[in-house]
Amino acid sequence: MTVNQTGNSEKVVLVTGSAQRVGAAIIKELHTRGWRVIIHYRHSEQAALSLASTLNAQRANSAFIIKADLQQHAQIQQLAEQALQVAGRLDALVNNASTFYPTTIGEATLADWDDLMISNARAPFFLSQALTPALTVSRGCIVNIVDIHATRPFKQHTIYCMAKAALGMMTASLAKELAPYVRVNGVAPGAILWPEDNTPSAIASNTQQQILASVPLARSGSPEDIARTVAFLIEDAPYITGQIIAVDGGRTHTLGME
Ligand SMILES: NC(=O)c1ccc[n+]([C@@H]2O[C@H](COP(=O)([O-])OP(=O)(O)OC[C@H]3O[C@@H](n4cnc5c(N)ncnc54)[C@H](OP(=O)(O)O)[C@@H]3O)[C@@H](O)[C@H]2O)c1
Repeated sequence: MTVNQTGNSEKVVLVTGSAQRVGAAIIKELHTRGWRVIIHYRHSEQAALSLASTLNAQRANSAFIIKADLQQHAQIQQLAEQALQVAGRLDALVNNASTFYPTTIGEATLADWDDLMISNARAPFFLSQALTPALTVSRGCIVNIVDIHATRPFKQHTIYCMAKAALGMMTASLAKELAPYVRVNGVAPGAILWPEDNTPSAIASNTQQQILASVPLARSGSPEDIARTVAFLIEDAPYITGQIIAVDGGRTHTLGME
């Protein structure tokens, strides 16, 4: 492996929205496999600091944190520049940050549209664009965290589904555009981690039960299931690009209209 300008030969991954939950599991999985990791966050500063501190205790200078609000367009370019400054190279970008909540017809606002579209589609596109030169140099890859509802509707979540559909198309389209230097793939989670209760994203417990009843493997997945699939696409899939792998216990094939 080539030693980079910082003198460190370990590969580097940036995972957006990775202070906690699924993003943090992706960070931990790749860190365990020897990667240096850049934890990006917006509000979850304590969680980001704590995760970085745990990982740096395991291996010095192996984890960095960067704050950026992806709603603020200028901060996307800053995030890309800071990532390259702190780590000196980039081998993989995981577009994981997202907002998710219902936008029932008759109640959806322009602010909801902007928030959901920007976090799930616009920001991943412009961050990918900003980091394409570095990923081209490293012959790296992009993994987009999509959703099985990018292709199958989730009632009362139309804007979210539309935004994830855009991210799904971005995966296919950039795979074509950035080949043969940068591979671009996606992971589409099913029911992995419910949104926190008492938040606008919360899903009623009876709906949770209905969803789980429709999973052929009869349980929810874990953040580690997503993390291992991301790691597979990054490390072990040199001939795969433009694909989105559903990690959903088989639910895609039984999906109705929740
Ligand atoms: N959880 C599931 O079961 C499930 C199912 C299907 C798909 N997915 C997808 O899998 C991914 C991870 O899921 P998750 O449930 O772990 O996600 P999450 O907790 O809902 O969100 C991840 C992070 O995104 C960050 N974020 C949101 N808006 C941002 C903005 N404008 N700027 C910067 N950061 C922003 C937040 O960071 P801060 O906390 O630092 O503000 C948040 O912690 C998402 O793409 C999600 O759509 C998850």
